[in-house]
Amino acid sequence: MGFRSKSADKSIVKENEKTLHKNLKFTATEQYKLLRTNLTFTLPEEEGCAIIGVTSAMRGEGKSTTAVNLSYVLAESGKKVLLIDGDLRLPSIAKKMRIPNSPGLTDLIKGDDSVQMSSFKSELFNNWYILPSGDLPPNPSELLGSKRMENLLKVFAKSFDYIIFDLPPVNIVSDALTVSKYISGMIVVIREDYTEKKELETCFRQIKLSDVKVLGCVINEAKNGRGSYGKYKYKRYYKYYKTYGNYDSAEN
Ligand SMILES: Nc1ncnc2c1ncn2[C@@H]1O[C@H](COP(=O)(O)OP(=O)(O)OP(=O)(O)O)[C@@H](O)[C@H]1O
Ligand SMILES: [Mg+2]
Repeated sequence: MGFRSKSADKSIVKENEKTLHKNLKFTATEQYKLLRTNLTFTLPEEEGCAIIGVTSAMRGEGKSTTAVNLSYVLAESGKKVLLIDGDLRLPSIAKKMRIPNSPGLTDLIKGDDSVQMSSFKSELFNNWYILPSGDLPPNPSELLGSKRMENLLKVFAKSFDYIIFDLPPVNIVSDALTVSKYISGMIVVIREDYTEKKELETCFRQIKLSDVKVLGCVINEAKNGRGSYGKYKYKRYYKYYKTYGNYDSAEN
């Protein structure tokens, strides 16, 4: 790892911000709106709050970027949205949104009554709330899968239309799948020219075992790295499910 000056760090932060919410170019925003529309077709039909997890196979595929932008376009359409940083090992939502990382989710799970939800209201929309991770716990997996977490989500579900849960990658830690039992479904982010087929297969195998519904895949492609937005595509899961199915039968 090389030495990086403070000004170089700042320019990277600025460059990264171009991939977020109101700073997005028109074409990228349109793709997130398409994702918003497609979600309405794949979400379970029962009424009430939709709790959507965003995960991927590996680190750095664009989960948090997708979670921020999806929650942004949902809030822009008038829905009441809560974005939660559920990556309790390497949180990034606070940094991306330029807000403090604490207090946050871990404080609420612990039952800290002094933390007010109103303090998580975003500056951009009155109906967009952003809950950072809070102080990092020693036991992220247990915390995310805990009864307290489930109860907290039940409380949130009463006052939000959508909860977008930014999660860690499935192939690295078990955290993401511990939330399976209390979410409506998962979006899997795949970074073009980055995610390896083998990793993707492992990811879908894990997801299938946890019995969570996959709502769709986001293909996130940053052509030539920084400075270019690439494509944000959304595909119905069945295409990948088919691939996965073939893989399955090839093994049996
Ligand atoms: N479409 C894109 N175009 C350009 N840069 C992107 C794009 N998507 C993500 N990035 C950049 O790639 C990096 C990783 O993105 P992000 O933090 O969203 O990934 P992640 O999957 O959440 O990573 P982690 O696994 O570490 O949580 C960030 O610097 C982000 O700004
Ligand atoms: Mg992330």
